[in-house]
Amino acid sequence: MDNLIQYAYVVAAALFIFGLKQLGSAATARRGNMISSSGMLLAIVAALLDQGILDYQMIVIGMVVGGAIGAYVARTVEMTAMPEMVAMFNGFGGMASLLVGMAAIAPGADAFTLTTIVLSILIGGMTFTGSLVAYGKLSERISSAAVMFAKQQMVNGLIVAGIVLSGVMFVNNPDATFWLFLVVVLSLAFGIMAVIPIGGADMPVVISLLNSYSGLAACAAGFAVDNNILIVAGSLVGASGIILTQIMCKAMNRSLSNVLFSGFGSGVQDTTEVEGEIKPISVEDAYYVLEAASSVAIVPGYGMAVAQAQHVVKELTELMEQNGAEVNFGIHPVAGRMPGHMNVLLAEADVPYDQLLEMDDINPRMETVDVAIVIGANDVVNPAARENEGSPIYGMPVINVDTARTVFVLKRSMASGFAGIENPLFYKENTRMLFGDAKESIGGLIREFS
Ligand code: TAP
Repeated sequence: MDNLIQYAYVVAAALFIFGLKQLGSAATARRGNMISSSGMLLAIVAALLDQGILDYQMIVIGMVVGGAIGAYVARTVEMTAMPEMVAMFNGFGGMASLLVGMAAIAPGADAFTLTTIVLSILIGGMTFTGSLVAYGKLSERISSAAVMFAKQQMVNGLIVAGIVLSGVMFVNNPDATFWLFLVVVLSLAFGIMAVIPIGGADMPVVISLLNSYSGLAACAAGFAVDNNILIVAGSLVGASGIILTQIMCKAMNRSLSNVLFSGFGSGVQDTTEVEGEIKPISVEDAYYVLEAASSVAIVPGYGMAVAQAQHVVKELTELMEQNGAEVNFGIHPVAGRMPGHMNVLLAEADVPYDQLLEMDDINPRMETVDVAIVIGANDVVNPAARENEGSPIYGMPVINVDTARTVFVLKRSMASGFAGIENPLFYKENTRMLFGDAKESIGGLIREFS
Protein backbone atom coordinates (compact mmCIF):
# COMPACT_ATOMS: atom_id res chain seq x y z
CA MET A 1 0.00 0.00 0.00
CA ASP A 2 2.77 2.36 0.97
CA ASN A 3 4.49 1.83 -2.37
CA LEU A 4 1.27 2.48 -4.22
CA ILE A 5 0.82 5.78 -2.37
CA GLN A 6 4.37 6.86 -3.23
CA TYR A 7 3.73 5.98 -6.91
CA ALA A 8 0.55 8.04 -6.81
CA TYR A 9 2.61 10.97 -5.45
CA VAL A 10 5.09 10.65 -8.32
CA VAL A 11 2.25 10.64 -10.87
CA ALA A 12 0.63 13.64 -9.14
CA ALA A 13 3.94 15.53 -9.17
CA ALA A 14 4.37 14.77 -12.88
CA LEU A 15 0.83 16.06 -13.53
CA PHE A 16 1.63 19.28 -11.65
CA ILE A 17 4.76 19.86 -13.70
CA PHE A 18 3.10 18.98 -17.00
CA GLY A 19 0.14 21.22 -16.14
CA LEU A 20 2.45 24.10 -15.21
CA LYS A 21 4.26 23.74 -18.53
CA GLN A 22 0.95 24.04 -20.37
CA LEU A 23 0.07 27.18 -18.43
CA GLY A 24 2.97 28.81 -20.28
CA SER A 25 0.84 29.41 -23.36
CA ALA A 26 -2.65 30.89 -23.50
CA ALA A 27 -3.71 28.25 -26.01
CA THR A 28 -3.01 25.35 -23.64
CA ALA A 29 -3.60 27.09 -20.30
CA ARG A 30 -7.10 25.67 -19.68
CA ARG A 31 -5.88 22.16 -20.31
CA GLY A 32 -2.88 22.80 -18.06
CA ASN A 33 -5.22 23.88 -15.30
CA MET A 34 -7.29 20.72 -15.66
CA ILE A 35 -4.20 18.48 -15.67
CA SER A 36 -2.77 20.13 -12.55
CA SER A 37 -6.17 19.92 -10.82
CA SER A 38 -6.40 16.19 -11.52
CA GLY A 39 -2.89 15.86 -10.08
CA MET A 40 -4.14 17.64 -6.96
CA LEU A 41 -7.16 15.33 -6.67
CA LEU A 42 -4.90 12.30 -6.93
CA ALA A 43 -2.52 13.79 -4.37
CA ILE A 44 -5.35 14.48 -1.91
CA VAL A 45 -6.78 10.95 -2.19
CA ALA A 46 -3.31 9.41 -1.79
CA ALA A 47 -2.51 11.66 1.19
CA LEU A 48 -5.76 10.71 2.92
CA LEU A 49 -4.91 7.03 2.54
CA ASP A 50 -1.28 7.70 3.47
CA GLN A 51 -2.15 9.19 6.84
CA GLY A 52 -4.36 6.24 7.72
CA ILE A 53 -7.09 8.57 8.89
CA LEU A 54 -10.03 6.74 10.36
CA ASP A 55 -12.48 9.57 10.74
CA TYR A 56 -13.16 11.41 7.52
CA GLN A 57 -16.11 13.37 8.86
CA MET A 58 -14.25 16.62 9.55
CA ILE A 59 -12.34 16.31 6.30
CA VAL A 60 -15.52 16.00 4.26
CA ILE A 61 -17.12 18.93 6.08
CA GLY A 62 -13.98 21.00 5.48
CA MET A 63 -13.88 20.11 1.80
CA VAL A 64 -17.55 20.89 1.23
CA VAL A 65 -17.50 24.22 3.08
CA GLY A 66 -14.11 25.30 1.65
CA GLY A 67 -14.98 24.10 -1.85
CA ALA A 68 -18.30 25.92 -1.84
CA ILE A 69 -16.74 29.20 -0.69
CA GLY A 70 -13.91 28.84 -3.23
CA ALA A 71 -16.27 28.08 -6.11
CA TYR A 72 -18.58 30.98 -5.21
CA VAL A 73 -15.73 33.48 -4.92
CA ALA A 74 -14.05 32.33 -8.14
CA ARG A 75 -17.32 32.57 -10.08
CA THR A 76 -18.36 35.98 -8.83
CA VAL A 77 -15.02 37.81 -8.71
CA GLU A 78 -14.61 40.75 -11.08
CA MET A 79 -11.71 40.34 -13.48
CA THR A 80 -10.09 43.50 -12.08
CA ALA A 81 -10.32 42.10 -8.52
CA MET A 82 -8.36 38.96 -9.42
CA PRO A 83 -5.12 40.08 -7.68
CA GLU A 84 -7.07 40.62 -4.44
CA MET A 85 -8.53 37.15 -4.66
CA VAL A 86 -5.12 35.62 -5.26
CA ALA A 87 -3.86 37.57 -2.22
CA MET A 88 -6.56 35.99 -0.05
CA PHE A 89 -5.85 32.51 -1.41
CA ASN A 90 -2.14 32.91 -0.66
CA GLY A 91 -2.99 34.11 2.83
CA PHE A 92 -5.17 31.09 3.57
CA GLY A 93 -2.48 28.82 2.12
CA GLY A 94 -0.05 30.37 4.61
CA MET A 95 -2.50 29.91 7.49
CA ALA A 96 -3.02 26.26 6.49
CA SER A 97 0.73 25.65 6.66
CA LEU A 98 0.88 27.36 10.05
CA LEU A 99 -1.88 25.07 11.37
CA VAL A 100 -0.28 21.96 9.86
CA GLY A 101 2.99 22.97 11.52
CA MET A 102 1.26 23.34 14.90
CA ALA A 103 -0.52 20.00 14.48
CA ALA A 104 2.75 18.26 13.63
CA ILE A 105 4.17 18.76 17.11
CA ALA A 106 4.55 15.31 18.61
CA PRO A 107 6.50 13.98 21.58
CA GLY A 108 10.02 12.86 20.71
CA ALA A 109 10.28 14.86 17.47
CA ASP A 110 13.88 15.33 16.34
CA ALA A 111 15.58 18.71 15.86
CA PHE A 112 15.10 18.63 12.08
CA THR A 113 11.34 18.12 12.35
CA LEU A 114 11.09 20.81 15.04
CA THR A 115 13.00 23.22 12.81
CA THR A 116 10.66 22.57 9.86
CA ILE A 117 7.71 23.12 12.21
CA VAL A 118 9.11 26.49 13.22
CA LEU A 119 9.73 27.37 9.55
CA SER A 120 6.23 26.41 8.43
CA ILE A 121 4.75 28.50 11.25
CA LEU A 122 7.06 31.44 10.55
CA ILE A 123 6.58 31.57 6.77
CA GLY A 124 2.91 30.58 6.96
CA GLY A 125 2.14 33.20 9.60
CA MET A 126 3.85 36.08 7.83
CA THR A 127 2.25 35.04 4.52
CA PHE A 128 -1.19 35.11 6.17
CA THR A 129 -1.04 38.59 7.67
CA GLY A 130 1.08 39.99 4.80
CA SER A 131 -1.56 38.78 2.34
CA LEU A 132 -4.37 40.29 4.41
CA VAL A 133 -2.63 43.67 4.32
CA ALA A 134 -2.01 43.30 0.55
CA TYR A 135 -5.70 42.45 0.09
CA GLY A 136 -6.75 45.45 2.16
CA LYS A 137 -4.50 47.81 0.21
CA LEU A 138 -5.58 46.55 -3.20
CA SER A 139 -9.28 46.59 -2.40
CA GLU A 140 -8.81 49.98 -0.72
CA ARG A 141 -10.35 48.73 2.50
CA ILE A 142 -7.27 50.23 4.10
CA SER A 143 -5.17 53.13 2.82
CA SER A 144 -2.93 52.00 -0.03
CA ALA A 145 -0.27 54.54 0.95
CA ALA A 146 3.10 53.30 2.19
CA VAL A 147 3.12 53.41 6.00
CA MET A 148 6.47 54.56 7.36
CA PHE A 149 7.44 55.63 10.84
CA ALA A 150 10.58 56.45 12.78
CA LYS A 151 12.76 53.52 13.84
CA GLN A 152 10.72 51.17 11.62
CA GLN A 153 13.79 49.20 10.55
CA MET A 154 14.82 48.82 14.17
CA VAL A 155 11.38 47.48 15.15
CA ASN A 156 11.53 45.01 12.24
CA GLY A 157 15.03 43.95 13.26
CA LEU A 158 13.83 43.32 16.82
CA ILE A 159 10.91 41.21 15.58
CA VAL A 160 13.22 39.10 13.39
CA ALA A 161 15.68 38.68 16.29
CA GLY A 162 12.74 37.67 18.52
CA ILE A 163 11.60 35.06 15.98
CA VAL A 164 15.08 33.55 15.68
CA LEU A 165 15.57 33.49 19.46
CA SER A 166 12.15 31.93 20.17
CA GLY A 167 12.63 29.40 17.35
CA VAL A 168 16.00 28.29 18.71
CA MET A 169 14.62 28.10 22.28
CA PHE A 170 11.70 25.93 21.10
CA VAL A 171 13.87 23.54 19.07
CA ASN A 172 16.15 23.08 22.08
CA ASN A 173 13.28 22.64 24.49
CA PRO A 174 10.12 21.44 22.69
CA ASP A 175 8.15 21.11 25.91
CA ALA A 176 8.27 24.86 26.44
CA THR A 177 5.45 25.65 24.00
CA PHE A 178 5.53 29.26 25.15
CA TRP A 179 8.40 29.84 22.70
CA LEU A 180 6.42 28.37 19.85
CA PHE A 181 3.48 30.66 20.57
CA LEU A 182 5.91 33.57 20.57
CA VAL A 183 7.06 32.47 17.10
CA VAL A 184 3.39 32.48 15.98
CA VAL A 185 2.66 35.95 17.34
CA LEU A 186 5.90 37.50 16.07
CA SER A 187 5.50 35.91 12.62
CA LEU A 188 1.98 37.32 12.31
CA ALA A 189 3.32 40.73 13.36
CA PHE A 190 6.21 40.49 10.91
CA GLY A 191 3.85 39.85 7.96
CA ILE A 192 2.05 43.10 8.73
CA MET A 193 5.27 45.06 9.22
CA ALA A 194 6.78 43.76 5.98
CA VAL A 195 3.87 44.83 3.77
CA ILE A 196 2.68 48.13 5.30
CA PRO A 197 5.68 50.16 4.00
CA ILE A 198 4.94 49.11 0.40
CA GLY A 199 2.60 51.30 -1.65
CA GLY A 200 -0.61 49.90 -3.17
CA ALA A 201 0.75 50.20 -6.72
CA ASP A 202 3.48 47.66 -5.98
CA MET A 203 1.02 45.14 -4.52
CA PRO A 204 0.94 42.87 -7.62
CA VAL A 205 4.66 42.21 -7.13
CA VAL A 206 4.18 41.69 -3.39
CA ILE A 207 1.32 39.26 -4.00
CA SER A 208 3.42 37.24 -6.38
CA LEU A 209 6.18 37.15 -3.76
CA LEU A 210 3.71 36.10 -1.04
CA ASN A 211 2.49 33.39 -3.40
CA SER A 212 6.05 32.12 -3.47
CA TYR A 213 6.20 32.28 0.35
CA SER A 214 2.96 30.31 0.68
CA GLY A 215 4.65 27.59 -1.39
CA LEU A 216 7.74 27.63 0.81
CA ALA A 217 5.53 27.40 3.92
CA ALA A 218 3.75 24.38 2.43
CA CYS A 219 7.12 22.84 1.58
CA ALA A 220 8.30 23.29 5.20
CA ALA A 221 5.00 21.81 6.42
CA GLY A 222 5.61 18.87 4.06
CA PHE A 223 8.90 18.18 5.83
CA ALA A 224 7.22 18.60 9.21
CA VAL A 225 4.57 15.95 8.48
CA ASP A 226 6.87 13.90 6.25
CA ASN A 227 4.66 14.17 3.17
CA ASN A 228 6.51 14.05 -0.15
CA ILE A 229 3.80 15.50 -2.37
CA LEU A 230 3.42 18.55 -0.11
CA ILE A 231 7.16 19.12 -0.39
CA VAL A 232 7.02 18.88 -4.20
CA ALA A 233 3.88 21.01 -4.60
CA GLY A 234 5.24 23.62 -2.17
CA SER A 235 8.54 23.82 -4.04
CA LEU A 236 6.75 24.27 -7.36
CA VAL A 237 4.62 27.12 -5.99
CA GLY A 238 7.67 28.65 -4.30
CA ALA A 239 9.74 28.53 -7.49
CA SER A 240 7.03 29.68 -9.89
CA GLY A 241 6.07 32.57 -7.58
CA ILE A 242 9.63 33.83 -7.40
CA ILE A 243 10.06 33.51 -11.19
CA LEU A 244 6.91 35.60 -11.78
CA THR A 245 8.16 38.16 -9.24
CA GLN A 246 11.47 38.39 -11.11
CA ILE A 247 9.72 38.79 -14.47
CA MET A 248 7.64 41.67 -13.12
CA CYS A 249 10.64 43.40 -11.55
CA LYS A 250 12.68 43.01 -14.74
CA ALA A 251 9.85 44.37 -16.88
CA MET A 252 9.80 47.46 -14.65
CA ASN A 253 13.60 47.61 -14.54
CA ARG A 254 13.48 47.57 -10.75
CA SER A 255 15.17 45.31 -8.28
CA LEU A 256 13.15 43.32 -5.78
CA SER A 257 14.76 45.21 -2.92
CA ASN A 258 13.73 48.49 -4.55
CA VAL A 259 10.10 47.27 -4.63
CA LEU A 260 10.21 45.97 -1.06
CA PHE A 261 12.16 48.68 0.68
CA SER A 262 12.34 51.88 -1.37
CA GLY A 263 9.01 52.69 -2.96
CA PHE A 264 8.54 53.57 -6.60
CA GLY A 265 11.06 55.89 -8.31
CA SER A 266 12.39 57.12 -5.01
CA GLY A 267 15.17 59.63 -5.31
CA VAL A 268 14.99 59.93 -9.11
CA GLN A 269 13.68 63.29 -10.33
CA ASP A 270 12.08 63.14 -13.77
CA THR A 271 14.24 65.28 -16.06
CA THR A 272 12.42 64.41 -19.28
CA GLU A 273 12.05 67.50 -21.45
CA VAL A 274 9.43 67.41 -24.14
CA GLU A 275 9.84 69.05 -27.52
CA GLY A 276 7.28 69.55 -30.25
CA GLU A 277 3.57 70.03 -29.93
CA ILE A 278 0.49 67.97 -29.34
CA LYS A 279 -1.37 67.15 -32.55
CA PRO A 280 -4.93 65.99 -31.85
CA ILE A 281 -6.78 64.05 -34.51
CA SER A 282 -10.51 63.51 -35.05
CA VAL A 283 -12.17 60.11 -35.36
CA GLU A 284 -12.94 60.80 -39.05
CA ASP A 285 -9.33 61.68 -39.91
CA ALA A 286 -8.02 58.70 -37.92
CA TYR A 287 -10.37 56.50 -39.93
CA TYR A 288 -8.94 57.72 -43.26
CA VAL A 289 -5.41 56.85 -42.11
CA LEU A 290 -6.47 53.42 -40.83
CA GLU A 291 -8.47 52.73 -43.97
CA ALA A 292 -5.27 53.11 -46.02
CA ALA A 293 -3.06 51.12 -43.61
CA SER A 294 -1.87 47.65 -44.57
CA SER A 295 -0.25 46.80 -41.22
CA VAL A 296 -1.50 47.85 -37.80
CA ALA A 297 -0.10 47.17 -34.31
CA ILE A 298 -2.41 47.64 -31.34
CA VAL A 299 -0.72 48.25 -27.99
CA PRO A 300 -3.17 48.11 -25.09
CA GLY A 301 -2.57 49.31 -21.54
CA TYR A 302 -4.33 49.99 -18.27
CA GLY A 303 -6.74 52.47 -19.92
CA MET A 304 -8.21 49.70 -22.09
CA ALA A 305 -9.11 47.86 -18.87
CA VAL A 306 -10.59 51.03 -17.34
CA ALA A 307 -12.67 51.70 -20.46
CA GLN A 308 -13.56 47.98 -20.80
CA ALA A 309 -12.81 48.48 -24.48
CA GLN A 310 -11.62 44.94 -25.28
CA HIS A 311 -14.80 43.91 -27.13
CA VAL A 312 -14.89 46.99 -29.37
CA VAL A 313 -11.15 46.57 -29.96
CA LYS A 314 -11.84 43.06 -31.26
CA GLU A 315 -14.62 44.43 -33.49
CA LEU A 316 -12.36 47.12 -34.92
CA THR A 317 -9.63 44.54 -35.51
CA GLU A 318 -12.00 42.44 -37.60
CA LEU A 319 -13.11 45.45 -39.65
CA MET A 320 -9.49 46.43 -40.37
CA GLU A 321 -8.68 42.85 -41.36
CA GLN A 322 -11.67 42.72 -43.69
CA ASN A 323 -10.24 45.89 -45.19
CA GLY A 324 -7.01 44.01 -45.98
CA ALA A 325 -4.78 45.11 -43.10
CA GLU A 326 -2.60 42.79 -41.05
CA VAL A 327 -3.35 43.46 -37.38
CA ASN A 328 -1.24 42.36 -34.42
CA PHE A 329 -1.23 43.18 -30.72
CA GLY A 330 1.92 44.13 -28.81
CA ILE A 331 1.71 42.98 -25.20
CA HIS A 332 4.04 44.47 -22.61
CA PRO A 333 4.63 42.19 -19.61
CA VAL A 334 3.52 44.83 -17.08
CA ALA A 335 0.85 46.60 -19.12
CA GLY A 336 -2.15 47.17 -16.87
CA ARG A 337 -2.03 46.42 -13.18
CA MET A 338 -1.60 42.67 -12.87
CA PRO A 339 0.42 39.96 -14.61
CA GLY A 340 -1.25 38.90 -17.84
CA HIS A 341 -3.88 41.68 -17.49
CA MET A 342 -4.03 42.41 -21.23
CA ASN A 343 -3.96 38.72 -22.22
CA VAL A 344 -6.92 38.02 -19.96
CA LEU A 345 -8.97 40.94 -21.30
CA LEU A 346 -8.26 40.14 -24.94
CA ALA A 347 -8.95 36.43 -24.40
CA GLU A 348 -12.30 37.45 -22.87
CA ALA A 349 -13.05 39.24 -26.17
CA ASP A 350 -11.97 36.15 -28.19
CA VAL A 351 -8.95 37.78 -29.81
CA PRO A 352 -6.95 34.84 -31.26
CA TYR A 353 -3.82 34.04 -29.21
CA ASP A 354 -1.53 34.02 -32.22
CA GLN A 355 -2.34 37.68 -32.79
CA LEU A 356 -0.83 38.60 -29.42
CA LEU A 357 2.89 39.26 -29.76
CA GLU A 358 5.25 39.70 -26.87
CA MET A 359 7.28 42.90 -26.66
CA ASP A 360 10.46 41.25 -27.93
CA ASP A 361 8.62 39.88 -30.95
CA ILE A 362 6.77 43.03 -31.97
CA ASN A 363 9.60 45.53 -31.45
CA PRO A 364 11.82 44.36 -34.33
CA ARG A 365 8.92 44.66 -36.78
CA MET A 366 7.57 47.99 -35.49
CA GLU A 367 9.42 50.00 -38.17
CA THR A 368 7.41 48.25 -40.86
CA VAL A 369 4.06 49.01 -39.17
CA ASP A 370 1.90 51.67 -40.84
CA VAL A 371 -0.13 52.60 -37.76
CA ALA A 372 0.50 51.76 -34.11
CA ILE A 373 -2.68 52.29 -32.07
CA VAL A 374 -1.92 52.85 -28.39
CA ILE A 375 -5.07 52.18 -26.37
CA GLY A 376 -4.85 53.56 -22.83
CA ALA A 377 -1.17 52.65 -22.50
CA ASN A 378 1.33 55.22 -21.33
CA ASP A 379 4.43 54.08 -19.38
CA VAL A 380 4.88 50.90 -21.40
CA VAL A 381 5.27 52.92 -24.63
CA ASN A 382 7.31 55.80 -23.17
CA PRO A 383 10.45 56.36 -25.30
CA ALA A 384 12.07 58.25 -22.39
CA ALA A 385 12.85 54.81 -20.97
CA ARG A 386 15.20 54.42 -23.94
CA GLU A 387 16.31 57.96 -24.56
CA ASN A 388 16.61 59.83 -21.27
CA GLU A 389 18.98 58.63 -18.57
CA GLY A 390 17.35 61.06 -16.14
CA SER A 391 13.95 59.37 -16.39
CA PRO A 392 12.79 57.33 -13.37
CA ILE A 393 11.90 54.53 -15.81
CA TYR A 394 15.20 54.73 -17.75
CA GLY A 395 16.23 51.21 -18.75
CA MET A 396 12.72 49.75 -18.50
CA PRO A 397 12.07 47.84 -21.71
CA VAL A 398 9.18 49.44 -23.63
CA ILE A 399 7.26 48.79 -26.84
CA ASN A 400 8.82 51.08 -29.45
CA VAL A 401 5.61 52.38 -31.01
CA ASP A 402 7.36 55.66 -31.87
CA THR A 403 9.30 53.83 -34.59
CA ALA A 404 6.07 52.98 -36.47
CA ARG A 405 5.17 55.26 -39.41
CA THR A 406 2.19 56.78 -37.58
CA VAL A 407 1.12 56.47 -33.94
CA PHE A 408 -2.41 57.06 -32.62
CA VAL A 409 -2.63 57.48 -28.86
CA LEU A 410 -6.11 56.95 -27.42
CA LYS A 411 -6.50 58.51 -23.97
CA ARG A 412 -8.76 61.03 -22.31
CA SER A 413 -6.31 63.81 -21.45
CA MET A 414 -2.62 64.62 -21.14
CA ALA A 415 -2.56 63.01 -17.69
CA SER A 416 0.42 60.80 -16.88
CA GLY A 417 0.29 57.07 -16.26
CA PHE A 418 1.17 54.95 -13.25
CA ALA A 419 4.76 56.27 -13.05
CA GLY A 420 3.51 59.88 -12.98
CA ILE A 421 6.04 61.10 -15.55
CA GLU A 422 6.12 62.99 -18.87
CA ASN A 423 5.79 60.96 -22.07
CA PRO A 424 7.67 62.48 -25.07
CA LEU A 425 5.79 60.07 -27.37
CA PHE A 426 2.78 62.38 -27.33
CA TYR A 427 4.87 65.19 -28.82
CA LYS A 428 6.63 63.23 -31.57
CA GLU A 429 6.27 64.26 -35.21
CA ASN A 430 4.48 61.03 -36.18
CA THR A 431 2.08 60.92 -33.18
CA ARG A 432 -1.57 61.95 -33.26
CA MET A 433 -3.65 62.12 -30.08
CA LEU A 434 -7.19 60.75 -30.30
CA PHE A 435 -8.63 62.18 -27.09
CA GLY A 436 -11.59 60.60 -25.34
CA ASP A 437 -12.65 57.44 -23.56
CA ALA A 438 -11.04 54.54 -25.44
CA LYS A 439 -14.33 52.66 -25.83
CA GLU A 440 -16.08 55.69 -27.30
CA SER A 441 -13.20 56.57 -29.65
CA ILE A 442 -13.04 53.01 -30.95
CA GLY A 443 -16.83 52.92 -31.23
CA GLY A 444 -16.52 56.03 -33.45
CA LEU A 445 -13.90 54.32 -35.65
CA ILE A 446 -16.15 51.25 -35.97
CA ARG A 447 -19.03 53.44 -37.14
CA GLU A 448 -16.77 55.05 -39.76
CA PHE A 449 -15.62 51.62 -41.01
CA SER A 450 -19.13 50.24 -41.18
P1 TAP B 1 -0.33 53.55 -17.39
O1 TAP B 1 1.05 54.03 -17.63
O2 TAP B 1 -0.83 53.50 -16.01
O3 TAP B 1 -1.28 54.51 -18.26
C1 TAP B 1 -2.64 54.27 -18.42
C2 TAP B 1 -3.22 55.37 -19.26
O4 TAP B 1 -4.57 55.02 -19.55
C3 TAP B 1 -3.27 56.71 -18.54
O5 TAP B 1 -2.30 57.58 -19.06
C4 TAP B 1 -4.70 57.21 -18.76
O6 TAP B 1 -4.67 58.50 -19.36
C5 TAP B 1 -5.28 56.19 -19.73
N1 TAP B 1 -6.69 55.93 -19.46
C6 TAP B 1 -7.28 55.70 -18.27
N2 TAP B 1 -8.59 55.51 -18.43
C7 TAP B 1 -8.84 55.59 -19.76
C8 TAP B 1 -10.02 55.46 -20.55
N3 TAP B 1 -11.23 55.23 -20.01
N4 TAP B 1 -9.91 55.62 -21.90
C9 TAP B 1 -8.70 55.88 -22.45
N5 TAP B 1 -7.56 56.00 -21.75
C10 TAP B 1 -7.64 55.85 -20.41
O7 TAP B 1 -0.60 52.12 -18.03
P2 TAP B 1 0.38 51.11 -18.80
O8 TAP B 1 1.01 51.79 -19.97
O9 TAP B 1 -0.46 49.90 -19.01
O10 TAP B 1 1.52 50.82 -17.78
C11 TAP B 1 1.35 50.04 -16.60
C12 TAP B 1 2.06 50.70 -15.44
O11 TAP B 1 1.68 50.00 -14.23
C13 TAP B 1 3.56 50.59 -15.57
O12 TAP B 1 4.19 51.73 -15.05
C14 TAP B 1 3.88 49.38 -14.69
O13 TAP B 1 5.20 49.40 -14.20
C15 TAP B 1 2.86 49.55 -13.58
N6 TAP B 1 2.59 48.31 -12.86
C16 TAP B 1 2.16 47.22 -13.53
C17 TAP B 1 1.98 46.02 -12.87
C18 TAP B 1 1.55 44.81 -13.64
S1 TAP B 1 1.88 43.39 -13.02
N7 TAP B 1 0.95 44.91 -14.78
C19 TAP B 1 2.18 45.95 -11.50
C20 TAP B 1 2.58 47.10 -10.80
C21 TAP B 1 2.78 48.28 -11.51
P3 TAP B 1 -5.93 59.51 -19.21
O14 TAP B 1 -6.20 59.62 -17.76
O15 TAP B 1 -5.48 60.75 -19.87
O16 TAP B 1 -7.07 58.86 -19.96
